[in-house]
Amino acid sequence: MNKPVIVALDVDNRTQLDELLEILGKSQDVNIKIGMELFFNQGEKIVTDLAAKGYKIFLDLKLHDIPNTVYSGMKQLAKLGITYTTVHALGGSQMIHAAKQGLIEGTPSGKSVPKLLAVTELTSISDEVLANEQNCKLPMQEEVTSLAKMAKKAGADGVICSAREVEDLRRNVGTDFLYVTPGIRPAANSHDDQARTATPGQAGKWGSSALVVGRPITLASDPAASYQEIMEEFNQNVQD
Ligand code: C5P
Repeated sequence: MNKPVIVALDVDNRTQLDELLEILGKSQDVNIKIGMELFFNQGEKIVTDLAAKGYKIFLDLKLHDIPNTVYSGMKQLAKLGITYTTVHALGGSQMIHAAKQGLIEGTPSGKSVPKLLAVTELTSISDEVLANEQNCKLPMQEEVTSLAKMAKKAGADGVICSAREVEDLRRNVGTDFLYVTPGIRPAANSHDDQARTATPGQAGKWGSSALVVGRPITLASDPAASYQEIMEEFNQNVQD
């Protein structure tokens, strides 16, 4: 079975969203990511509507607050019928544990608990920014590995990281954990604001569990063709 390419639908209105969904095809086959712009513009109804149509939804709001607030927030998000959601790993182990608890308690009976993914270092953060603005003493790979180990122990189901870090993470954190990777750029594409990028083929080879891809699909002249090409390049290079 193909590993998923999750399409980041980073638009802020229903018209553009519907156009993209129409182009991408059958709802049951498409994994979509809803981020802040759509959620803040349309509210939770957009999520429940799309979930009812059969889309697998990654609701990416990257919660980062004290444990009790994140627990209560996740309890609400768990009602929406989503498949994945996110916190920032830098919120710490107690916060991640609380997030997971909120998801478990908030999920209606008989439904699956959404998977909790912890964002390690954003793929827009470069080695220089990590060292000079976050004043982190560790190199990027070690910092990401350390956050991933902590997140796993605290109850997360996986992490968001760059595909560049996945080979090492699989060795040191385990293969029983999800490594979801944004910052994906086919060789010909601009890197935009992403710093730690990889091609779909590299991500496949290095062991990403799923890709998150926005602009290379949503801004392509033919988004459906771009989605197919990325899906093929990724899956043709998967080693396991
Ligand atoms: O357009 P692009 O492919 O760069 O979009 C990447 C998507 O992945 C965006 O929606 C962004 O919010 C998300 N993301 C990311 N880096 C992370 C976590 C999420 O780029 N570490």
